[in-house]
Amino acid sequence: MNILVFGKDGQLGKAFAEQLKAGQFNQDTIRFVGRADCDLANTQHVSDLLQSFQPQVIINAAAYTAVDKAESESELAFAINAKAPETMASYAASQDVTLLHFSTDYVFDGTKQGSYTELDQANPLGVYGKSKEAGERAIVQAFVKGAGQYAILRTSWVYGNGANFIRTILRLAKERAELRVIDDQFGIPTSAQWLAELGSQLASSLANKQFASGIYHAVPVGEINWYGLAQLAVQSAIEAGATLKASSGAISPIPASQYPLPAPRPMNSRLATNKLQSELERLDLVSKLPHWNTPWDKQVTAYVRQLLAD
Ligand SMILES: NC(=O)c1ccc[n+]([C@@H]2O[C@H](COP(=O)([O-])OP(=O)(O)OC[C@H]3O[C@@H](n4cnc5c(N)ncnc54)[C@H](OP(=O)(O)O)[C@@H]3O)[C@@H](O)[C@H]2O)c1
Repeated sequence: MNILVFGKDGQLGKAFAEQLKAGQFNQDTIRFVGRADCDLANTQHVSDLLQSFQPQVIINAAAYTAVDKAESESELAFAINAKAPETMASYAASQDVTLLHFSTDYVFDGTKQGSYTELDQANPLGVYGKSKEAGERAIVQAFVKGAGQYAILRTSWVYGNGANFIRTILRLAKERAELRVIDDQFGIPTSAQWLAELGSQLASSLANKQFASGIYHAVPVGEINWYGLAQLAVQSAIEAGATLKASSGAISPIPASQYPLPAPRPMNSRLATNKLQSELERLDLVSKLPHWNTPWDKQVTAYVRQLLAD
């Protein structure tokens, strides 16, 4: 089975590389591609690669993720986040193969009380969210008439081997004695490793035509705001022996209104995972996902320890 993974140099792409290399797949038939191998802003590049490699499974871990820059690079964001996934989906639907794609909490406007389900109306606030939502729609549309199967996993607040909020906070806590962090935006931090473990399992089930195609929310158990996440990251680092200028008590909560950014963010990014949980239970897959029910805070603590050990 030929497996093509886009985004090899991103947080999720690197996590997939580790996961798939450790898994049951034949390594000779897996190809990981980055920007230098295939520019996703160029539709022809994407089509040519698909035609030449003939994948049975496409995993799209790549995306234009510069949320603020997207406000001034709309065309590029849409090319990478909407047009490229559309090209992948058209290929998959016409060839009866599998597409696993990732999307974001930023497709919602964050005004809902409580967690968002897959049935809630998308209403992205910024260009990044709009481009990701356009990508979702293009994929769903491509599979309406075609064969093949797909899953779009919406996730949030991803951290792994790359730039992310936790690394930024730990760097700032080394440099400064006091930090100010937003406490009125809520979401669920998601480990790239956790997501790749889940994604690899789903890719197999999709390819075997067991898993039902559709959009699924994929985040760990629990919820927090950025301030709480920053506190836990700093506390975990200190407990693991790091020397920082700022303790968790030196972090002050501020409202998002005091930290204006070019792109608006949803105040509520909580995603409900009941649909995914049901599907995993139906296929008896939960037992194959050792970290599925590990709460977000335990995962963050383990991640910080790992960062310090590296
Ligand atoms: N990060 C988050 O907090 C977050 C939250 C919710 C959802 N998501 C979604 O989760 C998925 C994975 O995100 P991530 O955190 O792994 O992102 P990431 O670390 O920013 O990685 C994205 C990758 O996409 C590649 N890419 C961008 N433009 C490209 C182009 N024109 N051609 C080829 N490759 C290109 C980048 O290549 P370079 O390395 O060369 O730049 C990068 O390696 C994405 O679908 C994202 O929308 C992320």
